[in-house]
Amino acid sequence: MIWFILFYGLILISTSFQAGGDGPQLGLIKQWNLINYNFEWDAPVNDKNFFNDENIVATGLALSPDRIFVATPRLFSGVPATVSTVQRDQFGDSPVLQAYPDWSFHTTSLGNYNCSELGLVSVYRLRIDSCNRLWALDAGVSRSLEDYEITCPPKILIFDLATNQVVRRIDFPREVRRGETLFTNLIVDETTSKPENNCDDVFVYISDTVEPAIVVYDSARDLTWRLSHPSMFPDPDFAESTIGNDKFTLMDGIVGLGFDAKAGLVYFQPLATDRLFSISTEALRAGPFPRNQAIPVKLVGRKASQGIGLTVSPIDGSVYFSPLTETAVASWNPVTSEQKILAYDPEALQFVADMSLAADDPTGIYVISSKFHRYFLKNVNRGEINVRILRLSAGGLGQPVLSSSNPIFGVSQGQYNQAVRPPAPYSFVPSNVQNLGAPVRFAGAGYSSKGITNPFLAINTGKRIIQTTAVPSTSYATFSRPAFGTAYKHVHLTTRS
Ligand SMILES: *[C@@H]1O[C@H](CO)[C@@H](O)[C@H](O)[C@H]1NC(C)=O
Repeated sequence: MIWFILFYGLILISTSFQAGGDGPQLGLIKQWNLINYNFEWDAPVNDKNFFNDENIVATGLALSPDRIFVATPRLFSGVPATVSTVQRDQFGDSPVLQAYPDWSFHTTSLGNYNCSELGLVSVYRLRIDSCNRLWALDAGVSRSLEDYEITCPPKILIFDLATNQVVRRIDFPREVRRGETLFTNLIVDETTSKPENNCDDVFVYISDTVEPAIVVYDSARDLTWRLSHPSMFPDPDFAESTIGNDKFTLMDGIVGLGFDAKAGLVYFQPLATDRLFSISTEALRAGPFPRNQAIPVKLVGRKASQGIGLTVSPIDGSVYFSPLTETAVASWNPVTSEQKILAYDPEALQFVADMSLAADDPTGIYVISSKFHRYFLKNVNRGEINVRILRLSAGGLGQPVLSSSNPIFGVSQGQYNQAVRPPAPYSFVPSNVQNLGAPVRFAGAGYSSKGITNPFLAINTGKRIIQTTAVPSTSYATFSRPAFGTAYKHVHLTTRS
């Protein structure tokens, strides 16, 4: 026991190891073995359908100056609250989460839920706007990886963080939904927002992962439309992902979204692909595309492996991504084509589901990693850390960093370097770093040979695509439905309380 305390104390002092120079550091912010809550005294915590800690996967985070908001979608049964908070200044492992804003918003799994009420069914991602408001995107689907119950239509609830009250509710009309629509991610674009409108005139770009599309919401005019494109679909060749010793199959379409406000670009990636795409906000905002007009999606490049979380540096427009197999966070600068490994950790960077910037911390990138594959494969180890929130310092980006934040590596720093040296070509040994030309094999699209015919070349050159085999048959059927041509007025919303 004494050894454990001594060792753990050391780890707490040096939660990250810096490879050299003034490069980025990977710091541990919070970690959990399994997620637990501040339940009400009469909560049925022994009912596995209400609370099953081996089924609670964190996929989204947002940071206010005092709190971290965590999204835990109802992928499986047993998720008692889908949005919750932890204080940023709360220390110690496995802090209990507080249901947000309170338990009355999390009753949908108890049966007889009325969708007109202000409750949340299943939230994958959250964003905070510059008006101190939290946007919770509710997919409305319960147990999406079990029986896929469409409990309620998708919606957004906007909370004022000063009062924790709902200040706006956005319901999505039937016409922009499809059979198994699953809204998983959102970008709040304030670039044309006027201060006097208090962020009520933003554009919102939403990923529909299962019926792949980007849904655009023009909040000033209260209009919604849908843009679907083959690049938003999963690629069957990348259905299987590998993290450590685990392999899992997930045919998810578009889910990662990144936003470059200065360049007016939205980056996106399906999970099941090695490709990264972009589309201009001008194209997204222009309204629904006529049926015979190509949507101007660009292939940006190819990554080392699949991934989800994306973000864009507000400083230089670099795209941050986390290839699943490499358990790393990497960046690629679209102007210089320079690429870097910002952090590598085979334990702590397993399945980075979201990356977020904090308004009060301009040099930090926050990532949430949660061993989704272990929950999915039903082999969660309760004795391990399974959920982490980490901070990557983006100041003076340069050297990669190895983190030794995980106490299960009972080794010295020197041994650590030996023990966890990543497989070739990921030699992050500091002396080799300078020689790595393309450390995560991010091949910018400009490098691809124009002579080789592949379907993505057409995307890249803006040609119209004839979709062939790259989508699963069920999605293919819905893809040919009339998806274009109309913007739909929202039926009922703007409930102010
Ligand atoms: C659901 O709630 C709405 C609004 O409070 C109410 O008008 C409606 O009657 C309720 N429906 C049911 C079935 O209780």
